[in-house]
Amino acid sequence: MTEGDHQPVLLEEVAGLLAPRPEGVYVDCTVGPGGHSEEILRRSAPNGRLIGFDRDAETLAVAATRLAPFGQRVTLHHGDYRTMGEQEPGLSVDGILADLGLSSLQLDDPQRGFSFRHDGPLDMRYDRSSGEGAARLLNRASEDQLAVILRRYGQEPRARAIARAIVRQRGHEPLSSTGDLRRAVLDRNDRDELDRALRGGAHHDLRHDARRLVENGVTTQAEIDSVLGEY
Ligand SMILES: C[S@@+](CC[C@H](N)C(=O)[O-])C[C@H]1O[C@@H](n2cnc3c(N)ncnc32)[C@H](O)[C@@H]1O
Repeated sequence: MTEGDHQPVLLEEVAGLLAPRPEGVYVDCTVGPGGHSEEILRRSAPNGRLIGFDRDAETLAVAATRLAPFGQRVTLHHGDYRTMGEQEPGLSVDGILADLGLSSLQLDDPQRGFSFRHDGPLDMRYDRSSGEGAARLLNRASEDQLAVILRRYGQEPRARAIARAIVRQRGHEPLSSTGDLRRAVLDRNDRDELDRALRGGAHHDLRHDARRLVENGVTTQAEIDSVLGEY
């Protein structure tokens, strides 16, 4: 996976607000492919420091290559930024950035299962080394549990209908791919609209209803488990 030249959104605005300076210490909570981090390091030359976090080891490897020229000025941690206190005890910082969500690196890779664009395994995890993939969750949770998860963590207005559709579909066969989920949750009209967008080659934002289930940047396995225990 390479995307070393990926340009992040609002680069100028973010760098302008953080106003990195030499000697400064900055935290990038969500390094992604490293675009913002790179700019912070450039602007804080020659000795500003950048401490970065990302839950996705593969994306972090891309950032590590991109940021390697900055040498000792960079420290990267694989993990949730909420572990910052343990990873960097006593750290005093001049600025913190959190660019929550997904990077195009993750969205465009069918193997990650975040998008309808190509069929792929129904995974949807930032960190594939921990927790459970979306397929396992969608195949084992009850309709009530799915509806609560979709509503609470996805702010999904059609939560109940989608939960019902998932349960109906898996009654025929367990869901294992993004295509299975797409067929389960989109009605005929939705599917036609999506197909037109895909055929047109538009870089349509293929956020699908259930993706937000595990994608909103703050939903953790513990939160999902608490719903499974509650309902
Ligand atoms: C929108 S991208 C960041 C892009 C980045 N600002 C850049 O300039 O390229 C968001 C990243 O946050 C990561 N992420 C999401 N939730 C996280 C969390 N709780 N802790 C650490 N990283 C997280 C994702 O894996 C993803 O790589």
